[in-house]
Amino acid sequence: MSGLPDLAGKVAIVTGGASGIGKGIAVQLIAEGAQVIIADIQRDAMEATAEEIGAVGIQVDVSNPASVDALAREALDRYGAVHVVCNNAGIGPLAPVADLTLDDWRWMIGVNLWGVIHGVHTFLPILKQNREGGHIVNTASMAGLVAGPRLGAYAAAKYGVVGLTEVLAAELASDNSRVGVSVLCPGTVHTNIGHSSRNRPAGLPDAGFKDIDIELEDNPMYRWIYPEEAGAVVVRAIKRGDLYALTHPDWYPRVAKRHEAIAEAFRQQAAEAGLGGG
Ligand code: NAI
Repeated sequence: MSGLPDLAGKVAIVTGGASGIGKGIAVQLIAEGAQVIIADIQRDAMEATAEEIGAVGIQVDVSNPASVDALAREALDRYGAVHVVCNNAGIGPLAPVADLTLDDWRWMIGVNLWGVIHGVHTFLPILKQNREGGHIVNTASMAGLVAGPRLGAYAAAKYGVVGLTEVLAAELASDNSRVGVSVLCPGTVHTNIGHSSRNRPAGLPDAGFKDIDIELEDNPMYRWIYPEEAGAVVVRAIKRGDLYALTHPDWYPRVAKRHEAIAEAFRQQAAEAGLGGG
């Protein structure tokens, strides 16, 4: 797949760039010489981060398509082109499926899945216009590859992001497009995701969600990394045109376990149908 080996002078937009992984991606893109716009719903944090790292801040609500379109217009007015779009803004509160309110579902799917859809829908045609190509990075999660308890709404969104990105990658490759796409699937990263409820819309008050317990950090099962490390993984994926951008290769056994359960179901079904094992 197409990559963008030289990021110097390229224009990059990072949604959710005011904090956490988005900020880490922005820092690494700036280190490559890119001109970076951080686009975020939280204006105060966005302005502070933009000043701190040398980016431009533009406010956006990724769950609102008109807001994402306005972001694109402002970026094009300012720079004339956009080369890299990181659809990264996201939220991470959790609840068992049985406790989720419809407001919880709407918020989660609105930001974590529709946010990515809006970014792809708005920016794909813009990136395709570039002679020098372009790249989209969609932030999913390890929970887009394998998921556990309380991750129902989150995983529904993140599996969707992985599926959307895999299909888009195949379509762009078969078109020999100069635009590439990657899906970032991080494990645990030190960010403000444990305070996601700060951005819950006032119009969606009915909550079963709880912000994730930061105590998790003491669980030896989890290896925590810093946002700049995730940002470096993203930059490498953009330059090489990697589909999967992974920060936690040590978590593969959990994904393999899921794959093996699916393979076993196929084998069992094949045996019952008299088709022989796969
Ligand atoms: P964070 O809370 O530090 O940053 C998320 C940013 O998104 C914030 O600046 C927030 O204001 C912004 N945001 C929230 N709703 C928005 C909206 N509607 N429109 C525009 N901006 C909005 O959290 P973090 O961890 O950096 O999250 C970034 C992405 O990484 C998310 O998609 C999350 O699901 C994903 N992720 C995070 C992991 C972690 O361990 N921190 C692990 C796997 C994935």
